Amino acid sequence: IEAALADGPLRGRRIVVTSGPTHEPIDPVRYIANRSSGAQGTALARALAGLGAEVVFVTGPASVPPPAGVEVIRVETAAEMLAAVQAALPADAAVFAAAVADWRVANAAPQKMKKDGSGRPPALEFSENPDILANVAGMGQGRPRLVVGFAAETHDVEAHARAKRARKGCDWIVANDVSPATGIMGGAENEVTLITPEGAETWPRLAKDEVAQRLAQRIAEALA
Ligand code: CTP
Ligand code: CA
Repeated sequence: IEAALADGPLRGRRIVVTSGPTHEPIDPVRYIANRSSGAQGTALARALAGLGAEVVFVTGPASVPPPAGVEVIRVETAAEMLAAVQAALPADAAVFAAAVADWRVANAAPQKMKKDGSGRPPALEFSENPDILANVAGMGQGRPRLVVGFAAETHDVEAHARAKRARKGCDWIVANDVSPATGIMGGAENEVTLITPEGAETWPRLAKDEVAQRLAQRIAEALA
């Protein structure tokens, strides 16, 4: 379905947004996951579309529904997310709000694992997933003009986020403190620090929708 594109400062811009957790299978009925609800990525995609962008929304199994007016690509694993993002390029900007599982189960079983009666649990082995953000940020030809990552940290937020920005080669990092005491993970509010080449700005604690609108506005200014 062709959604009617809103008019606005991002009209004619194509933006890829990743969102939600990924699920990494253990066997056909079990998986490894994380607590991401997909709320911030969803709000951001909605805000970008509201400013007129053509948004490709690549989402893992989130607990909130995707926004209207965007192209939704549903994936399960990090490997599928990487492939979907690559297929969605070229784009003017790419924003990586997904909480990608860092590891997948290397010895996932093709059939449901059964207790063997020994009382010994199965030994899961892990391998590291591809870093989707670093992959896209490191593209030569065809790199989106603006590549934005998120950094969910539980301590030393700004220092970790600055290091992450340098390591991954992205333009901006949106850092937040997700330690349990903040109630941010799974909640309706977010308190972020935006790290750009010009420095770091900490925004007040705001509804995730408001964080999304501010960020969308900044992206529009950067692409203008
Ligand atoms: N990210 C990604 N692919 C991965 C891991 C992370 O695209 N395999 C992206 C996230 O979407 C986010 C940014 O990288 O935009 C930072 O994710 P984060 O989990 O904070 O960073 P990691 O490099 O995985 O470091 P760690 O979890 O060890 O802090
Ligand atoms: Ca991680």
